[in-house]
Amino acid sequence: MNRRVLIVDDVPEVLDAIEEILSDSFEIHRAESGKEALDVSQRCGPFALVLTDNDMPGMSGIEFLLVMQRRWPDTTRIMLTGRADYAAAIQALHEGAVFRFLTKPAEAKAVVEAIQDGVTRYEKIAAERLLTEQLQFSRESLLDMNSTLERRLDDQLARIRRIHEFSFELKNAHTLDAVAKTTAETCAGLFPGRGLTISFEDEMFRRTVEENHGEISDHVVDLALSGLEGTIGCLKVDTFDNRGTVLSEGDREILNALASLAGVAANSQVLRRERERAQHATIYALARLAEERDDETARHLERVSDYCRLIAIGMRENGHEVETITDAWIEDIALAAPLHDIGKVGIPDAILLKPAKLTEVEWGTMKAHTTIGAETLRNVLESAGELGFLRMAYEISWCHHERWDGAGYPRGIQGEEIPLAARIVALADVYDALTTRRPYKEPWTHEDSVAYIREQRGAQFDSRVVDAFLQNERRADEIRALKADMPEDFRATSERSA
Ligand code: C2E
Ligand code: SIN
Ligand code: SIN
Ligand code: FE
Ligand code: FE
Repeated sequence: MNRRVLIVDDVPEVLDAIEEILSDSFEIHRAESGKEALDVSQRCGPFALVLTDNDMPGMSGIEFLLVMQRRWPDTTRIMLTGRADYAAAIQALHEGAVFRFLTKPAEAKAVVEAIQDGVTRYEKIAAERLLTEQLQFSRESLLDMNSTLERRLDDQLARIRRIHEFSFELKNAHTLDAVAKTTAETCAGLFPGRGLTISFEDEMFRRTVEENHGEISDHVVDLALSGLEGTIGCLKVDTFDNRGTVLSEGDREILNALASLAGVAANSQVLRRERERAQHATIYALARLAEERDDETARHLERVSDYCRLIAIGMRENGHEVETITDAWIEDIALAAPLHDIGKVGIPDAILLKPAKLTEVEWGTMKAHTTIGAETLRNVLESAGELGFLRMAYEISWCHHERWDGAGYPRGIQGEEIPLAARIVALADVYDALTTRRPYKEPWTHEDSVAYIREQRGAQFDSRVVDAFLQNERRADEIRALKADMPEDFRATSERSA
């Protein structure tokens, strides 16, 4: 197992401090510049993980990570970002150079956790590469079988070709259910007249995925479907078909090939999902960077998310948009809502933190946080692929300041032109902005905020969104109280890390 970690900072004391907390669990190498780090990588690599400062003389951390990304794409890349580095952080995310950010000054616990996650990620990626190679190998050996068996009966040849096609179909099976379904259908097609079951244990969701074709008897061939970390499922096929014909040696060969492909495909689904979770973590790290600046907290993100959930469920109970608002959609909006202001990373401190009303010019810049956010998430979408919640986050960041009556920004679209998720976040965001302190305003009471929202029914906000909120306003107030920001907490944290 590769536990080699490279740490890079131009300040040796920082390296000493990091080395001290990590050296028990990892093999630490150090470098004091990007150039030196590349030399060390050449000599002592590949590394499971590299952790670098951004602000260094000569080569910046990002420049260094971009070179690392090209030369050793699997190595996990973590960057230490200071408060001044938001633009750099955004760029790094766009270019896929960074796996995670750590904000300076970083607490020991956060560093250890990030490194542990990052090394685990490296191992998964190395494992997945191995799986891909295995899949390739299975395909090649099938092709071999194909040629050596050329003189066998046509029907055996057709079945081998069918398995070969199956290995390509599996590439388009993007969930465990789809893998199970494709496998079961292929198997049923190849072995007509036999009952069969396929099942996978899905540990992340604590459930069993199962596909059945026909009644299964007591005489079955029971094949383990194995991935890298052991058995993840099984395939059972009747030994005798409905005319009493027993599985032949050739049949078993085909079945084995099918089972090994299904096992590999199921495993890469599991790994892909873990990778997606890592991606969520990266995007949230960035959202927190954005929010931390205007002295908002992780709790602000949580509250907005909770209010959205409350409103969405309320609308569904009122019979509105019931086709759209499924349980999965509610999960998506809860994940996506915290990203609504991600574009604020692109707004200068002088504007974002101004303790007074903005000038017209400043306001023009401020409004761009919607389009900056949309642009950022569009880039993430392009590199991460379509995740439902990311597409929704993209719409939300773009449209959360549009108004029902069309007087909002950035486009001035109105009514149902505004995506539903954005209409919901618009209200949740304003309720939270009103009830909390902002650099430019004191908090309002819950009652005043509710009165404002009621006033804006059908003007700023969709009336159905307002109704769902008003029916649940007591619960919103409870969430607000329960998840209130606690300045004392913050002081304690910064004293610890200072
Ligand atoms: P934010 O602080 O997260 O506020 C989100 C939204 O809550 C605002 O969107 C607005 O619709 C509502 N809101 C917040 N405070 C008030 C208020 O006192 N009265 C009313 N009626 N509504 C309020 P908006 O206006 O599009 O602003 C977007 C972002 O621009 C704000 O996000 C904040 O970061 C910034 N911003 C807005 N006005 C000022 C300002 O006067 N000074 C500074 N420094 N920033 C401002
Ligand atoms: C990345 O490493 O580029 C993003 C996170 C991941 O996909 O694991
Ligand atoms: C203000 O304009 O003074 C605050 C209200 C807002 O955020 O639009
Ligand atoms: Fe906003
Ligand atoms: Fe916000």
